[in-house]
Amino acid sequence: MDKVQRQYEDFPYPERDPADEKRRLVVGSPSYPFEIDHHLFGGKRDWKAGTSILVAGGGTGDGLVQMAQILTNAGAPYEITYLDLSEKSRKIAEARIAARGLKGVRFHTDSLLNAADYGKFDYIDCCGVLHHLPEPQAGFNALASALAPKGGMGLMVYAPHGRSGVYPLQDAFNALTDGMAPEEAIAVARKILAKLPEGHPFKCNQQLVDHEASDAGFLDLLLHGRDRPYTVTQLQEAIEGAGLSCVAMIPPAQYDPAPFLPKDIASELGPRAAMQAAENLRGTIKVHIAYATWPDRAAAALARPKDLSLVPHLKGVAGPALAKAIAAKGQVSMTLGGESLRLSLPKKAAPLLAGIDGRASLSAIAKLRGMDPFAFGALWAELDRVLAGWGLLHYSSLVP
Ligand SMILES: C[S@@+](CC[C@H](N)C(=O)[O-])C[C@H]1O[C@@H](n2cnc3c(N)ncnc32)[C@H](O)[C@@H]1O
Repeated sequence: MDKVQRQYEDFPYPERDPADEKRRLVVGSPSYPFEIDHHLFGGKRDWKAGTSILVAGGGTGDGLVQMAQILTNAGAPYEITYLDLSEKSRKIAEARIAARGLKGVRFHTDSLLNAADYGKFDYIDCCGVLHHLPEPQAGFNALASALAPKGGMGLMVYAPHGRSGVYPLQDAFNALTDGMAPEEAIAVARKILAKLPEGHPFKCNQQLVDHEASDAGFLDLLLHGRDRPYTVTQLQEAIEGAGLSCVAMIPPAQYDPAPFLPKDIASELGPRAAMQAAENLRGTIKVHIAYATWPDRAAAALARPKDLSLVPHLKGVAGPALAKAIAAKGQVSMTLGGESLRLSLPKKAAPLLAGIDGRASLSAIAKLRGMDPFAFGALWAELDRVLAGWGLLHYSSLVP
């Protein structure tokens, strides 16, 4: 058995207990359905017509459970195909789906390299997998070959700078523990790690904590058998190499270097150079999340808030609560990738935020507040720039 396959057979990752499904739903990017709609289907996907989904390298089931539960809640029919090489991970994913009483998932133990054998899919999730393949580009290509003509995909791969210190340690630990059983290798590597100097880049990297949580986390982060990070440029080249276009990096505002640059320099950068500059200057990005589709759909993929029939949804915060914070301070705080962010919004936008309930369209919110479309459009554009930019606002026809 291949080394990486063995690793996930012995140590499914991330570690999940199906009993926890009773108390929480793990949500995140990619594959939060409102985010999928926003970035791939113009915010107006016809979810009632049904959605065929491939979860490629589904592991212990986070992306799978998130999509199945949210689509079920919304009454949106779906068929999900789960593929993973690890039997043990599949059993955990199956138990999580069963614990929630969810239907419509077919489980297969197979490689995503065979994705096309399972059909063509409207949406493909591949989170944290491609960077572990012996030939990652073959994985990008295999996913493209299973994508329907009007479909899109959400990907996550590791990024180098936010994982500073990881790769020299993987090299060292793998060499020094060669031939040992995983438990012994973990024990030896933990002892070595404890003796490394405080100034070691890994010890200075506050963002990396998985190795503290569990043996599976330690193995995945510091003793991985095959793990290559991608810069944002390399990721986009890999997507394009598969014949697709990258339509969004998540959250989009994280890839804007303008806050760090003199205006004249910022304005001269092309889109890709700008994103790469943002990654290099931030230094904190540890994963890249991208949405991709066929080039002929790229222009139509992203929701445009000038279309007042769109329905806005907030992520992780309720409209009235956000409205209260903005009315009081004109700011909200969030942390992302080790950065503390203060997002400023005009106080007069608070009543619009209070109107977001996952059902009201932009025109209904404008009408409710008695605003003419012109004044509304200008104020909403500012809300959209900040909140959609940082992944807190999506447009979707899904009803929560
Ligand atoms: C880090 S886990 C990520 C799991 C899941 N996508 C998530 O985000 O929680 C990587 C998974 O990829 C699976 N994997 C690795 N190579 C694969 C391949 N060629 N085909 C399918 N699955 C693969 C592993 O078995 C493992 O479950």
